[in-house]
Amino acid sequence: MSQLGPEIVLGVGGGIAAYKSCELLRRLQDRGYQVTVVPTPSSLNFVGKATWEALSGRPVNVQVWENVHSVPHISLAEQSEYFVIAPATADLIARLAAGRADDLLTNLVLASNSPKMLVPAMHPSMWLDPATVSNVQTLRDRGFKIMEPEVGRLTGSDEGQGRFPETASIVKEFDELTGNISDLVGKRVLVTAGGTQENIDPVRFIGNRSSGKQGIAIALAAKKRGALVHLIAANVDEKDVRGIQTTHVVSTQEMHEALTEQFPQCDILIMSAAVADARPKLVSFEKIKKTLLGTIELTPNTDLIAEMSKSKTNQLMIGFAAETRDHLQEARRKMESKGLDLIYVNDVSGGAIFGKDKTMGTILTRNGADIAVKEVSKDALGNLLLDQAIRQLG
Ligand code: CTP
Repeated sequence: MSQLGPEIVLGVGGGIAAYKSCELLRRLQDRGYQVTVVPTPSSLNFVGKATWEALSGRPVNVQVWENVHSVPHISLAEQSEYFVIAPATADLIARLAAGRADDLLTNLVLASNSPKMLVPAMHPSMWLDPATVSNVQTLRDRGFKIMEPEVGRLTGSDEGQGRFPETASIVKEFDELTGNISDLVGKRVLVTAGGTQENIDPVRFIGNRSSGKQGIAIALAAKKRGALVHLIAANVDEKDVRGIQTTHVVSTQEMHEALTEQFPQCDILIMSAAVADARPKLVSFEKIKKTLLGTIELTPNTDLIAEMSKSKTNQLMIGFAAETRDHLQEARRKMESKGLDLIYVNDVSGGAIFGKDKTMGTILTRNGADIAVKEVSKDALGNLLLDQAIRQLG
């Protein structure tokens, strides 16, 4: 599972808010951005190079005199598709407005035509000083996107406009600049993927053919749109994705426990896992001899999504149905009996869909018209379902 987003530079100016940019770096990485951090020399008084190198996993240079053989101010300028400079101090804004190039960051800004966003943070009297006001205007006229600092308490006891904005609002503004959809920022999305397995004995189990691809595609789509995503993965082979909290489970009982823990906090539950409907009444601790394998007595599993919907508060619930006949009627019946808001149904006659990258089916909603989904990628279906979820959440 990889999802490489645009190459960006995170410039860090020498203000106390530099420490908040460590969190910003993490959130930008979660959104898929490939981030190179370029601090100004004075910012190293607040956060050192080692911290940035460890968090970004990339080398960090401050001056054009480091790694000269790679001409970093030109190579990095060419590679970077966007810039976000946070915090931008009064001094850094003045240097940028004057077109100076006295450290690596200001060199890069001059050498690159890519879109740039500044996140100013400083004392209110510095922000309101005519010199800063005019420098900010100069940069805006040159096409820089410049956020307004927030009003509130500053480092000392002073109050006013100058605070570094909340990380989520910086990410949202930056996403707007880069064209990343961020309509799920602040929402918690819980996704189940894969298929649960029920042990018969230490070597055998009852399972199903779900690969988990659809659930993972939904989790990635939700993360890309800014959600905080928790994935409950049942027997999927794919590696965990950075930025998606993942709980691995094997059986339906384990999935039930994970759901019980995560469901109360989520805004949207997307239950794409294929849950085993029943489990052996007795699990043998020793391998059962084949001569004794004639009949396995089963006991039904809890219907997990129906169970969750009994305790729901404001959560939007999305289910899946895989049917071999009477798709629409069956799906509508399940949507109503399990208390779902949406259900996606596909035709699995002949083993279609399982393990494939494409899907085709119908989205049914409680009140709206059915939405036919022509053959699309599982990523695209994830986004269609999220579009519907956002519409329903209002
Ligand atoms: N589901 C669940 N718990 C179960 C069985 C299913 O939460 N024990 C969820 C699935 O994850 C899916 C939806 O219910 O989102 C419909 O699953 P499906 O297997 O089609 O429904 P069943 O209730 O098992 O119906 P049937 O086997 O009768 O077709």
